Amino acid sequence: MIGRRSDVDQLVLQLSNGAHRVVAAPRRTGKSSVCEAAVGRLRAKRFYTVSISLFKYTNAATLAEAIAQETLANRRPMHKLIEKVREAGATVVKGAALTLAMKTQADLGDAVELAIR
Ligand SMILES: Nc1ncnc2c1ncn2[C@@H]1O[C@H](COP(=O)(O)OP(=O)(O)OP(=O)(O)O)[C@@H](O)[C@H]1O
Ligand SMILES: [Mg+2]
Repeated sequence: MIGRRSDVDQLVLQLSNGAHRVVAAPRRTGKSSVCEAAVGRLRAKRFYTVSISLFKYTNAATLAEAIAQETLANRRPMHKLIEKVREAGATVVKGAALTLAMKTQADLGDAVELAIR
């Protein structure tokens, strides 16, 4: 990150204080690199981070799914569970995995419905 330390520092400070930032600059001037570095630093400080490319998702449903998955991926065990279910099908959701799913549902509260298909 040649010459961008203060940009990264500033972004980390602002985001960690709950501010929203939009990074705008001419093409190929290092916007993504600075943002990725800031997100990496926040992640190391145990903030929840979600990185989404709006070029990748073509409708609201896939975007919502990506946001939900990236958010849950901040909880390592939950991320592992999702991967496991995806690979093996719903039959593996029992025992410890089921307890984890129930606990996550409880943590997230009534506003969120956790559906593992
Ligand atoms: N501080 C830096 N010092 C040297 N090289 C850099 C620096 N920041 C970015 N680069 C390099 O410059 C190129 C463009 O960087 P990056 O993709 O971060 O820019 P961007 O502004 O997000 O570009 P785009 O407009 O295409 O989204 C990349 O090859 C990256 O490795
Ligand atoms: Mg970019």
